[in-house]
Amino acid sequence: MEEIKLFCTATIANVSCGFDVLGLALDNVGDEMIIRKVAKKGVTITKIVGQDLPLETHKNVAGVAALSMLSKVDTEFGFEIEIYKNIKPGSGIGSSAASSSGAVFGINELLGRPFSNHDLIEFAMQGERLASGVAHADNVAPALLGGFTLVKTTEPLEVLKIHTPSELYATVIHPQIEVKTSDAREILRGSVPLKTAIKQWGNVGALISGLYTEDYELIGRSLEDHIVEPIRSILIPAFDAVKQDSIKAGALGAGISGSGPSIYALSKGEETAKKVADAMKKVYENVGIDYDVHISKINTEGIKVIQ
Ligand code: HSE
Repeated sequence: MEEIKLFCTATIANVSCGFDVLGLALDNVGDEMIIRKVAKKGVTITKIVGQDLPLETHKNVAGVAALSMLSKVDTEFGFEIEIYKNIKPGSGIGSSAASSSGAVFGINELLGRPFSNHDLIEFAMQGERLASGVAHADNVAPALLGGFTLVKTTEPLEVLKIHTPSELYATVIHPQIEVKTSDAREILRGSVPLKTAIKQWGNVGALISGLYTEDYELIGRSLEDHIVEPIRSILIPAFDAVKQDSIKAGALGAGISGSGPSIYALSKGEETAKKVADAMKKVYENVGIDYDVHISKINTEGIKVIQ
């Protein structure tokens, strides 16, 4: 194989209670990427369409992730990458993760798969380090493995793929402002009171149980974040109204997608997810904020080869 074309999925990190450990992959929202083998060694980013991002390999998350992978394998050739961005940077649905994961996934395929998808997470995390200052894995893990993922530890890396109930849909609204992950991390407190931590890990455990037993109501009751959401939500216009109206419209639960400003909701069934999208849109129409909205089932396979 000399060239590969990929659909690099958008992701929702944190999923409310699981800051830096939980994530899920979306099915119909993402970037495209073409990667080809070339005689010149190294990684060259030849084209970025849709967003103004650096072409220099060392300044681009895809380039950095790819180089970190190539430092572990001998090749007689190099790679060119074209990136077609549909996910806006700073939107909270894993823009940098889609690029980092896509680069390592595609090169691994062209090399005949020397690495497992779990191995690739570690390389893709280097792109996240460039983007946000922290090599968090909760976007790149679902992008590479699909479905829901849980980052048990990062040192050593151990990521678990969690069962995805078949009727689960995500609705995501992106108010058209940019929130940098690094800024959204800077405002967080460094410690958590024990009482708050107890509530949070109760919800993480319950959410995992709800996913495995397909208990939609339990999933909804577990989508609570006592640690990060109260602080970050102040960066997001009309957050409380969007969340409340989503739940009134039938969502199981709602919260901040990744580091925001996108807000996500999970619903049982596509019909409800559409009603939730209407409720979310109405809030931003009333306050006069432009938005993008996505309705997606959960993608259980991760990055897809499209050509
Ligand atoms: N866990 C990361 C954060 C995800 O919330 O900062 C960023 O998308």
